Amino acid sequence: MSLARRLLLAAAQSHFLRERAPRYRFVRRTVARFMPGEALDDALQAARQLADQGLASVFTHLGENLATASEAEQVTQHYLRVLEAIAVERLPTEISVKLTQLGLDLDAELCYRNLARLLGQVAPDATLWIDMEASSYVDATLTLFCRALAAAPRRARPRVGICLQAYLYRTAADLEALLPLGPAVRLVKGAYREPATVAMPRKRDVDENFFRLTGRLWSPEARQSGVHAAIATHDRALIARIEALARERGVPPSAFEFQMLYGIQRTEQRRLAGSGWRSAVLIAYGSFWYPWFMRRLAERPANLGFVVRNLFN
Ligand code: FDA
Repeated sequence: MSLARRLLLAAAQSHFLRERAPRYRFVRRTVARFMPGEALDDALQAARQLADQGLASVFTHLGENLATASEAEQVTQHYLRVLEAIAVERLPTEISVKLTQLGLDLDAELCYRNLARLLGQVAPDATLWIDMEASSYVDATLTLFCRALAAAPRRARPRVGICLQAYLYRTAADLEALLPLGPAVRLVKGAYREPATVAMPRKRDVDENFFRLTGRLWSPEARQSGVHAAIATHDRALIARIEALARERGVPPSAFEFQMLYGIQRTEQRRLAGSGWRSAVLIAYGSFWYPWFMRRLAERPANLGFVVRNLFN
């Protein structure tokens, strides 16, 4: 991992910077590149525009690690309103939640109840995605995910999906355990600051693991059990290999999708949709954007150039 990436990920955890950075206009101007706005209406407006271009979307309301059950309740209520708004407008939009936002740090039962309330409102042809946070949360997240999956009725598209991170050594084994359950799996490289004992430090190894895991998601046994894969990366070289693999194995477009973040690789997002694949854009919104934004800078330290440019504009 590069020094710049390490520093930016450390800064993402700084309370000092979290308090101060959002006060600066040039920082907020840079953030606007990665999110359409802080309000749900901003996200809905962006989703409508994407839908007009043939792109689906996934909403995530920014925030992590809550301190009280009433905060978790507020987040749950917010997502219930989001699901209602999506249904009213019939948007091709899903939601992606962090379990710490639903109360995982406070009480796993409370978190599960909040998750189940959201799942009860998910449209028949849609998936509710669960983000994967730092490695210390993986066990608890998988436990609640498996419980939710077992409780949900079988249908064409799994009602609940989980994010798995290719940088973790453990992910190959986690995926093997999940495959017989026929889940929806969003594969990402991984965005947190992890020790080398837990996560692969070299990008090359992470990329290869990502490709290998995609192969497992498209193995005959995985496809038979009804796995739905979301390939969430902006890495065009990797995407080209994965598209070739999909064609070689005859994976139908209904069995998977590509997902990317709002504002990144827009041309590639449209190209994928134009090639006949489902392509979804994850739209983050909300006022608690600082750590999320720092992880976006860490993914591509060249993004610091936008920060500097906005400082002088
Ligand atoms: P990589 O970092 O190798 O980037 C490849 C290329 O993409 C770069 O060279 C650059 O051109 C472009 N690019 C990538 N990131 C960029 C950025 N921020 N700004 C500008 N250009 C950029 N992680 C996690 O740990 N838990 C989670 O739940 C999720 N959820 C999630 C959902 C979705 C839909 C996406 C797309 C990603 C996530 N992630 C995530 C983040 C993920 O782990 C990873 O950090 C980013 O996707 C960046 O990695 P890439 O796969 O894009 O490759």
